[in-house]
Amino acid sequence: MNHYENAIETFGLTKKFGDFTAVNSVDFYIPKGEIFGLLGPNGAGKTTTIRMLCGIIAPSEGKGFVLGWDIAQDAESIKQNIGYMSQKFSLYHDLTCRENIRFYASIYRVPADEQSARVESLIDELGLREIANEQVRELPGGWRQRVALACAVVHNPPMLFLDEPTAGVDPIARREFWDFIYGLAGQGVSILATTHYMDEAEFCNKVGMMYNGRLIKIASPDTIKSEVPGFLLSIECNRPGKAEKFLRSQSNVLEVSLHGAQLHALLAKEEIKNAILKGLKKEGVEVMHYEFIQPSLEDVFISMIEEQASEEISE
Ligand SMILES: Nc1ncnc2c1ncn2[C@@H]1O[C@H](COP(=O)(O)OP(=O)(O)OP(=O)(O)O)[C@@H](O)[C@H]1O
Ligand SMILES: [Mg+2]
Repeated sequence: MNHYENAIETFGLTKKFGDFTAVNSVDFYIPKGEIFGLLGPNGAGKTTTIRMLCGIIAPSEGKGFVLGWDIAQDAESIKQNIGYMSQKFSLYHDLTCRENIRFYASIYRVPADEQSARVESLIDELGLREIANEQVRELPGGWRQRVALACAVVHNPPMLFLDEPTAGVDPIARREFWDFIYGLAGQGVSILATTHYMDEAEFCNKVGMMYNGRLIKIASPDTIKSEVPGFLLSIECNRPGKAEKFLRSQSNVLEVSLHGAQLHALLAKEEIKNAILKGLKKEGVEVMHYEFIQPSLEDVFISMIEEQASEEISE
């Protein structure tokens, strides 16, 4: 195995498809044993970044190192030593769960005399025993995702790429999934995971916010939350649409977003709350409940994207 300190390092990593830049000069690193979460809206460039790092597509510009290997020169070594659960992972539907995991064990050249023990221990660790003999085609999505994860880690890779591993999975299963990932990190496995679920970013040591091909921010989840410029007021009212319009017209309300029935308004100062509530009443909006809340990563993310978008417009 190569000597390396950081499982991933990139320098100006860029991917162009014709004139379109899908990944734009991305710099980041992942220390050994850490979980890095890549967040961002559809089309941000997350999957393209992963595909370059896994040695599947070549970068147009810049450099990337995975486990100390150069992605431009040592793609084969990288492929043999990483686990990759792709966004559209492929399992063999006519094979059982156990057969799928075994199949990946042989592709990844797990020594023949170790395969059975490894496959059976993964079946236990991931809670797959009751469905081990069922064909994958019979299984709901959440189970398939676990089987795909088992396949991705069957050769004990020191680096794992997970591209939206929990998309469409229920909250309890997502939690179990992350418990397993956490355990791997505890054993020194480095992990790069993409997700749309902001709550999952909380499981990461660091998150990178990606937008339009750029990594616009890298920080720990706590740091990102503590950097919100303002005070977040959550408002429950009878006419959220009308309230939203009013709040957007106020210069000291920095941002407004709708979360189901609740409006989140980012106030420049805590004191302006009273004026806002009065204003809403005047507009004929009845406020049932309000409170200052701790911003979620989603709030912060929306705020960063809005800031970035307005900068791009004014450029
Ligand atoms: N092979 C390709 N040829 C041309 N354009 C591509 C190709 N692959 C990706 N793109 C474009 O690059 C951009 C980034 O795509 P990518 O799949 O990396 O986004 P993503 O962040 O993973 O999005 P999602 O959250 O929807 O999975 C998109 O606009 C996509 O259409
Ligand atoms: Mg993707």
